[in-house]
This record gives sequence, structure tokens and C-alpha cells, in this order.
Amino acid sequence: MPNLKNIALITGASSGIGSSIAKLFAKNGYSVCLGARSINKLDKLVEEIKSVGGDAHSFYLDLLDDNSIKKFINNVSAIGNVNILINNSGLGKFDKIENVSLEDWDEMINVNLRGSFILSKAFIPIMKQNESGNIVFINSVAGRHGYPYSSGYVASKFGLRGLADSLRNELRPFNIKVTSIYPGAVDSYFWENVKASFPREEMMNTEEIAETVLFSIQKTGIGALEDIVIRRTKGDF
Ligand SMILES: NC(=O)c1ccc[n+]([C@@H]2O[C@H](COP(=O)([O-])OP(=O)(O)OC[C@H]3O[C@@H](n4cnc5c(N)ncnc54)[C@H](OP(=O)(O)O)[C@@H]3O)[C@@H](O)[C@H]2O)c1
Repeated sequence: MPNLKNIALITGASSGIGSSIAKLFAKNGYSVCLGARSINKLDKLVEEIKSVGGDAHSFYLDLLDDNSIKKFINNVSAIGNVNILINNSGLGKFDKIENVSLEDWDEMINVNLRGSFILSKAFIPIMKQNESGNIVFINSVAGRHGYPYSSGYVASKFGLRGLADSLRNELRPFNIKVTSIYPGAVDSYFWENVKASFPREEMMNTEEIAETVLFSIQKTGIGALEDIVIRRTKGDF
């Protein structure tokens, strides 16, 4: 579409890793478009970015609600061409299998996996047309190994890995780069309701994950960073 600016779309930008990615990308000159349910937090972030000369937009997005997703896609498409899509929204609920409710299972699969599928499907055509684009999936070390008390989360992240790997191979002829980032534990709201004794102050911070995403996008040359595992030098908990 002519006359529309290129934008970096970041889901789950209302907190944690997504919020740090939004700030870092805006600081580096990208126009960012942010989605999540906590619209007040997103609006505040947009103000903060604009106050230092950056360009940002925010739109309500609930990945559990197809109407909300449709509206979000229309809103975003009206302001720009998504040439960078960062599928970051996600949640984990951890318990032994007998205690995992269908609701919790569905929420993890639908936000972490189905939501990423729908947004990728929506924005790939414009990337194909432009023969350029980056899609980043914020996965997890739980997308590479199974952990106890984590069946739904691990299943969603293994699925996300499969989605990313398939798209990468499908989209090579169109010069679209697909990157999966697999972080170990990161200090964020994610851990707020998790019954685990991992000390949050010893986790990686959200900024180092944002730096990794930026690094993968800014890579020049004919190579692409496909899979990046980032965990504490000390190892996982
Ligand atoms: N923290 C970790 O240790 C860690 C490690 C590896 C991977 N990750 C992954 O990193 C990503 C970001 O997590 P985080 O650590 O930054 O956690 P976070 O601070 O809890 O952020 C999660 C984000 O996902 C959004 N989200 C949740 N449900 C949503 C829905 N129904 N529709 C749209 N957005 C929704 C939230 O926004 P709203 O609630 O405002 O909708 C929030 O912005 C996730 O995919 C997570 O699996 C995290």
C-alpha cells in the first residue's frame, strides 16, 4: 500500500518483555504499533515514547476474542504496513496435569499459539508483496524441552516452534525472515501468580531480551538469525 509507513507490531506490549521491546525499538527509530488488553498501560507507554520523539500507536487487542483480533488488524492496517511482526503476548499457568482446567489449557493455546497464527496469517501477504519482512516469535526454553507441571504452556510453545519453523521454510522465497527467541526465566509479571520459589531478582531482565530481538532484526547480510536461545550464564533455576 503506497504512502503508508512501515511499522513494527508488538503484541503484549502492556508489560514485561513486550513493553521493553516497544521502548527499545522506538528509541532506535522504528514506528511501533502496540496491542494488548490493558489499553491504559499501552496509552501511557505511547505517551512516554512520544515524549522523547518516538512514534507509537496503541490498539486494544484480546487474543481470546476473534472480533477484537479483527478490529485490531483493521486498525493497524489503516496506519501502516507491518514489516516487522513480534508475536510476544503469552501466559503460563503451571500445575500438575490433574489440576489443569480446560479453560487454562485453552487460554494458553489460544493466546500463545492461535493468536500468533492469526496475526502472522494477516500480515504475511503484505510482507510477501514487498518481498521483505521479519516475524519474531517470543518462545521460551519451554518450547524446546518439557518441564513438569507445565503441560499446557510447554504444548503451546512447542506448537509455536512448529509454526515458526514451518513458516520460515515456506517464506524463504519471499525474503521474509522468521526468528524464534527462546528465553530462560525473565523477571516480569509472568511470574506473579506462579507458585515457584525462583528468585525474581536473579532472573534475566526484560531489557536483555529486547536487545536480543533488536539484534536479530538489525542483522544485515544474506544470513538470518533463525533460533536464539538466551538463558542465564549460570543456567536455569
Ligand atoms: N517471563 C519469563 O520468564 C519468560 C520466559 C520465556 C518466555 N516468555 C514469554 O515472553 C512473552 C512475554 O511474557 P512476559 O514475561 O513479558 O510476561 P508479562 O509481563 O505477563 O506480559 C505478557 C503480555 O501478554 C499479554 N497478553 C496476555 N493475555 C493476552 C490476551 N488475551 N490478548 C492479548 N495479549 C495478552 C499481556 O497483556 P494484557 O494482559 O494487557 O492483555 C502482557 O502484555 C510470553 O510469550 C512468555 O511466554 C517469558
